[in-house]
Amino acid sequence: MKAGFFFSIILSMLAQLSRAQNQYHYQTLMNYLESRMASVEERIASWNEQNSRYNSDLKKFRHQTVDLLEKLSKDYEKFREDLEGAGVRVDRVEKEIDFIETKNPPKPCVKAADKMVEQEPVLTERKKKDEFYEVSVCVDLVSNIQAMKILKRLGSTKGVWTKDSRTAKVYIFNGTSEDTVYEFNSVKEFSASSGISKGKQITLPSAWNGTGHAVYDGFLYYLTERSELQVNKFHLENGSLVDSAVLPVQEQVSVYSLNPDTMVDLIADEEGLWALYAIEDTINLAKMDSDTLDIENMWETSCSRINAEAAFFVCGTLYVVYNTRPPSRSRVQCVFDVNDMVIPGEAPLLYFPRRFGAHSSLKYNPVEKIMYAWDDGYQILYRMALTKKLFTIVPPPEE
Ligand SMILES: *[C@@H]1O[C@H](CO)[C@@H](O)[C@H](O)[C@H]1NC(C)=O
Ligand SMILES: *[C@@H]1O[C@H](CO)[C@@H](O)[C@H](O)[C@H]1NC(C)=O
Ligand SMILES: *[C@@H]1O[C@H](CO)[C@@H](O)[C@H](O)[C@H]1NC(C)=O
Repeated sequence: MKAGFFFSIILSMLAQLSRAQNQYHYQTLMNYLESRMASVEERIASWNEQNSRYNSDLKKFRHQTVDLLEKLSKDYEKFREDLEGAGVRVDRVEKEIDFIETKNPPKPCVKAADKMVEQEPVLTERKKKDEFYEVSVCVDLVSNIQAMKILKRLGSTKGVWTKDSRTAKVYIFNGTSEDTVYEFNSVKEFSASSGISKGKQITLPSAWNGTGHAVYDGFLYYLTERSELQVNKFHLENGSLVDSAVLPVQEQVSVYSLNPDTMVDLIADEEGLWALYAIEDTINLAKMDSDTLDIENMWETSCSRINAEAAFFVCGTLYVVYNTRPPSRSRVQCVFDVNDMVIPGEAPLLYFPRRFGAHSSLKYNPVEKIMYAWDDGYQILYRMALTKKLFTIVPPPEE
């Protein structure tokens, strides 16, 4: 159709030209058309040649792919055989672990637990009744974030909410520097309340700084940042400051670069009080005696504070949570185990559900296996899935 149209134009032009009897212009036009035709023909020839070259290339490529696929399927066969062999070995190791565990049940992994037996017989009595077996043997490893529940949106963009894992009470710390804590009798009561101020008001002797507070067994551990970083222990029921201690930190840098108000993050559990702080760009961990606030041990975790937003601590293992600015998806990218029971390669890469805020605090409750998170003013619960840490098998002692 198009070619026909083209020729009809040429013919009508030629007719016009002959009518004009302009021989000279006719010849010029013919020359022009001939040279155009020649160049088009030349191009067509070169396309044909290229096309056949592509075809042969394609054929060669197809052969290579078939060869490669054949080779791959052979390798895969071998890989599967290896995998089956490994599976049998894992089964055997698991049976051995079972056998060894029945012969000698795992011991609590922290000496502090033994110390408390001598110091606080009452506490030990209570501990036996409660279900602390899993936590105190220290073999839980977080494998996944199983579920998320957004409970409420109350208060400032930054803050802390946490539950005392010894009682059902919930504490709300609105903002990063206040002196009033709000207490609710349960998560349910908080969830049903129309505002933070509906809770029982507890006034502290001094304002807290940051989002690193911890509540355990009726005591609040909180931080004041003046010229020194001071850990305070406060009895929530009696409203009295029980003790305080200064941390041996020379330069005050925030422990997580994405949460610049928090110099120290405190975690209280049945093994004691743990403090996270930064030395230069590395997160350090100190283990404190929760009765006396003495420092018992210190570790350099090898986790960077840069782009960290929070951390949580489960059974002797620290999980540092990283994000970006502006916030995207929070994820655990560094793990540190105080007993060297978690090999970095073994640690799971945990992603938080996709949200667009940033966590100002993450407080793990070992009894419920739930994390209390404050994300851009939202109070969120994360349910954690746990697995067991792999550990080296030590042959049972000869009897
Ligand atoms: C929580 O903090 C925000 C921001 O600092 C403030 O506007 C609000 O009044 C506070 N709420 C309560 C109940 O203190
Ligand atoms: C800690 O809080 C107090 C009281 O609000 C405030 O005066 C002080 O500047 C804060 N310290 C830091 C380092 O932000
Ligand atoms: C709290 O008060 C009670 C009664 O006054 C007292 O027996 C108890 O020792 C106090 N506890 C603390 C931690 O101050």
